Amino acid sequence: AHQWRGVIREYADRLPVTEHTEIITLGEGGTPLVHAKALSELTGSTVYLKVEGMNPTGSFKDRGMTMAITAAVEAGAKAVVCASTGNTSASAAAYATQAGLKCAVLVPAGKIAMGKMSQAIAHGAEIIQINGNFDACLEVARKLSEAYPVFLVNSVNPARIQGQKTAAFETVDFLGDAPDIHVMPVGNAGNITAYWKGYQEYAAEYESAAAGTLPAVATRTPQLWGFQAAGAAPLVLGHPVTEPETVATAIRIGNPASWDTAIAARDESGGLIDAVTDDEILAAHRWLSSREGVFVEPGSAAGVAGVIKKHAAGEVPEGKTIVITVTGHGLKDPQWALRTEDGGEVTPVKVDFDVVSVAAALGLE
Ligand code: F0G
Repeated sequence: AHQWRGVIREYADRLPVTEHTEIITLGEGGTPLVHAKALSELTGSTVYLKVEGMNPTGSFKDRGMTMAITAAVEAGAKAVVCASTGNTSASAAAYATQAGLKCAVLVPAGKIAMGKMSQAIAHGAEIIQINGNFDACLEVARKLSEAYPVFLVNSVNPARIQGQKTAAFETVDFLGDAPDIHVMPVGNAGNITAYWKGYQEYAAEYESAAAGTLPAVATRTPQLWGFQAAGAAPLVLGHPVTEPETVATAIRIGNPASWDTAIAARDESGGLIDAVTDDEILAAHRWLSSREGVFVEPGSAAGVAGVIKKHAAGEVPEGKTIVITVTGHGLKDPQWALRTEDGGEVTPVKVDFDVVSVAAALGLE
């Protein structure tokens, strides 16, 4: 039986590795493209969710981390460092463990979800909480890697972008071509940069090849639509945000490192980058779990929130193929599911252990 071999082995000819590279992998990638029935019905387009929470550590970061840690090993590094809102640290910690490297993570104090913190601790990373936001953590991580023998594995490392572009390849390989629109949350803007790179590479290959000589590569590139949280939307405002704030801690970032390439991805693809409020994010989070059967963390729902918002404004075309990447698993930050829409607390009913009581509680009596 065929087992998915991780993104480096599956796409080796399209990544900066050789046959001698020692590949560090946890089997990332190959994530499902799930038909989103309710969103398709709402929009009149065929909508799919690229469910990146199905990666080994529960987020899309694993695609980039397999490449970054592989590159670190190849460079002879003994230790890696990253700044993180949580998912990158969980991923770096896991892959560094497999490679036998030390891992240090810098996180904004009190602003990372418990699931992510647990992962970094479980994998034995050195966790340094910084009194500051992600942007401050990244600045320190960069300086640390310049002055000390530690290898930086944030997405400013080009190996990360290389690995993450495989999500675009998988989307095309599954659909048989690029979608019309690909939507995702945007924080530090590495992922939208990576998708654009992947889509461009596939389309360029098609253009340079004689017709029919290559297997499923894209005949075109999609529009990329990115959504930031309204309280952390520097790319929408056109200037850095010094005090980013949002319930979606994953994307609580005020000065994205991949700013220019995100703007290029937006403009070259004919797409857009817009903002969604925390209420819109939480409503989309609820929509995904209660209507599509897909449980994500709040930040991951920003793309869906964006599509719902644009649909309400009459700006989502019908009859198209739309892929929305949902970036991280709901179990990373499960507390949000326990709140009602108006801020109350959900408490499951409690009854005696007899059939009649249970049936009554279920409204069957
Ligand atoms: N969604 C999730 C769940 C994330 O964790 C992140 C980024 C993003 C979206 C945004 O992706 O930064 O490439 O634009 N998380 C980083 C981290 C910053 O440290 O885990 P981006």
